[in-house]
Amino acid sequence: MTCQVAVSVLILLLARETGAQEAPLLPFREHLDSDQLVTLRWGFDEVQGNITFELCVNTTGWIGFGLSPNGDMTGADIIIGGVNSDGYYFGDYHGIGKEMPLLDQKQSYSLLSLTEADGQTTMRVKRSIKSCDVDDHPITELPVKLIYAYGLTDDLGYHRKRRGTKELNLLNYMPRTVPTSSHYFDMTMSNFTVPAKDTHYECRVMNAPSFAEKHHIYRIEPLIEHVDLVHHMLLYTCPPHVNSTFQEECYTNADHNVCYQIIAAWGVGAGDFEVPELVGFPIGGDEGDYLYRLEMHYNNPTLLAGRVDNSGLRLHYTSQLRTHDAGVIMAGLAVTGGYGIPPNASSFHTYGMCDTSKLFETGADLQVFAAALHTHLAGRKVRVGHYRDGKQLGFMALEEHYNFEFQQVKNLGKTKTVEMGDTLLVECTYDTSNRTGFSWTGFSTQNEMCLAFIFYYPASNISNCLSFPQLEALPSVLGASDMNEAYQMLTQKTWDEETIMEYEKTLKDLPQYFMIADKEENVWRNMGNITDMMASPTPDCWRSPPPGSGAPNQSNMVQVCWPLLPLVLALIYALLC
Ligand SMILES: *[C@@H]1O[C@H](CO)[C@@H](O)[C@H](O)[C@H]1NC(C)=O
Ligand SMILES: *[C@@H]1O[C@H](CO)[C@@H](O)[C@H](O)[C@H]1NC(C)=O
Ligand SMILES: *[C@@H]1O[C@H](CO)[C@@H](O)[C@H](O)[C@H]1NC(C)=O
Ligand SMILES: *[C@@H]1O[C@H](CO)[C@@H](O)[C@H](O)[C@H]1NC(C)=O
Ligand SMILES: *[C@@H]1O[C@H](CO)[C@@H](O)[C@H](O)[C@H]1NC(C)=O
Ligand SMILES: *[C@@H]1O[C@H](CO)[C@@H](O)[C@H](O)[C@H]1NC(C)=O
Ligand SMILES: *[C@@H]1O[C@H](CO)[C@@H](O)[C@H](O)[C@H]1NC(C)=O
Ligand SMILES: *[C@@H]1O[C@H](CO)[C@@H](O)[C@H](O)[C@H]1NC(C)=O
Ligand SMILES: *[C@@H]1O[C@H](CO)[C@@H](O)[C@H](O)[C@H]1NC(C)=O
Repeated sequence: MTCQVAVSVLILLLARETGAQEAPLLPFREHLDSDQLVTLRWGFDEVQGNITFELCVNTTGWIGFGLSPNGDMTGADIIIGGVNSDGYYFGDYHGIGKEMPLLDQKQSYSLLSLTEADGQTTMRVKRSIKSCDVDDHPITELPVKLIYAYGLTDDLGYHRKRRGTKELNLLNYMPRTVPTSSHYFDMTMSNFTVPAKDTHYECRVMNAPSFAEKHHIYRIEPLIEHVDLVHHMLLYTCPPHVNSTFQEECYTNADHNVCYQIIAAWGVGAGDFEVPELVGFPIGGDEGDYLYRLEMHYNNPTLLAGRVDNSGLRLHYTSQLRTHDAGVIMAGLAVTGGYGIPPNASSFHTYGMCDTSKLFETGADLQVFAAALHTHLAGRKVRVGHYRDGKQLGFMALEEHYNFEFQQVKNLGKTKTVEMGDTLLVECTYDTSNRTGFSWTGFSTQNEMCLAFIFYYPASNISNCLSFPQLEALPSVLGASDMNEAYQMLTQKTWDEETIMEYEKTLKDLPQYFMIADKEENVWRNMGNITDMMASPTPDCWRSPPPGSGAPNQSNMVQVCWPLLPLVLALIYALLC
């Protein structure tokens, strides 16, 4: 441990925290203790591969926080900081059992701010999601044990009671708020006899209860009666013109291809979906009574007959209205026939674009907090690019290993703002190497889709924002006299790597119809082009810049070396023992 290492981690930031109540970077919040004196806020960016923590404790003394394999100090990844009369101290440490804990050789946490106000100490740090050295605890999609401790002064004394452990799933976090007034209604199958066949999709269009006053739905919970049968479930809202309920095998009646605005998705292994504390899905009051469509995917490989199922989803709602109504916009490739994906392709790309310049002429920016990506059986990847002024800012959502069986609505980890005029490009990658014929876009599971459901606030009356290539131009591009001849040429063609790539480019380069529809299905049309998408980022370890590299500003560093070190070590030893 050298003075340099210590210096590099002792960063003074003069900036004072302003109200973080609605900080889009830190959408999640949990009290780590039952007295609610220790509050953790966090947010993350899985695309960039980093996570930001803000620990706020009602003390003017030292505060410490860590990630631990088993809830105690052994092998724990610990950070400690505080504000004292000399300045600020902060460091990244690791517990080594009963021996003295050590300052990490590599300081993997970057201190963003450390402040004291109103009897509270607040420490904000950033790190890579993955573990960057042996002393750091990796952050995964699984729950992790968080540990904390704090003192009443900066004298770093030992306070047995001022410590604790709480297990949280940081990357798949669901708030589990408990409003004082909370109720639920269920959208489930009703004594449905699952057919004795391998795969069955059952669709049920049903009413939600009717409320005179507006309420907010804030959590959607799976109710699974037969874990061995229920493979995945999707819940869609219906447009206002759909006013009759029915139940049948999905997509067997073309007249019933309605209600495809996803609001909930559950796949084997997923849990509840809960929206951030600030928002709720409105129901009742002026909202009108929409119907819902529940799509159940049953998997019955042993062909058991006579199994009766009542699985579905439970929607929790409250009369304590949140600040904003949440809305869902369906973006991507319009779900209409005629777009064919050739067979024998290992990675065929389709594109659907949402141009918001029309969408927001009168509306507010979209604060996007979650997304559900959706293709059918041949889909392997879905990427949603975000563009402003013709340049790609990055990705709104990314799924490099898409699996139809494991769909879920995923919180983004932070709120991403889509400004008026931004575009979203949805790219889907399909594998049709095992298919012999064309896969056409459409509703049935054998057909394909390429959609991203964007969960945002404040809600607008827009329901979808899609594009579709101007296929009428296809015959002239292919040298056919009309559409029939063009399709004949396509379906008789030999599809190898070269012809597939050429055809993919043809569809991408065609002029595109851009369409935006509101809930009443009024459609606004425009023309546009598909833009290019950058390569997916490969998140790497973030490192504190070495001292003297210029960022953070050297003049903001405080030198607290050997004099403080024994105190810090004493503190760490006291912490969590
Ligand atoms: C991730 O890192 C980028 C680049 O430094 C930064 O702009 C962003 O705010 C960080 N996000 C989080 C959640 O830490
Ligand atoms: C913690 O401190 C804040 C700010 O002073 C105060 O509003 C809050 O009530 C305190 N919390 C508890 C549980 O004492
Ligand atoms: C479902 O079946 C059970 C057992 O036969 C019966 O008690 C129940 O009333 C049925 N529920 C509905 C909604 O039909
Ligand atoms: C249901 O919708 C159809 C057409 O969409 C309409 O003709 C009919 O009047 C509606 N029924 C009710 C009860 O609103
Ligand atoms: C194609 O089918 C074969 C045999 O069913 C299977 O082993 C293989 O994994 C499949 N390939 C793809 C890319 O789906
Ligand atoms: C599939 O593509 C491969 C690679 O381009 C090619 O060698 C093969 O002949 C194609 N198969 C068929 C059935 O067209
Ligand atoms: C939705 O909003 C747009 C723009 O304000 C308006 O033109 C349209 O009529 C609205 N649609 C409905 C169904 O209210
Ligand atoms: C699409 O691209 C073509 C060719 O580059 C260009 O002529 C046309 O103006 C573009 N259309 C739009 C709506 O930007
Ligand atoms: C560093 O901070 C000092 C004082 O706050 C300021 O004068 C200087 O411009 C800063 N340098 C950089 C590179 O930001």
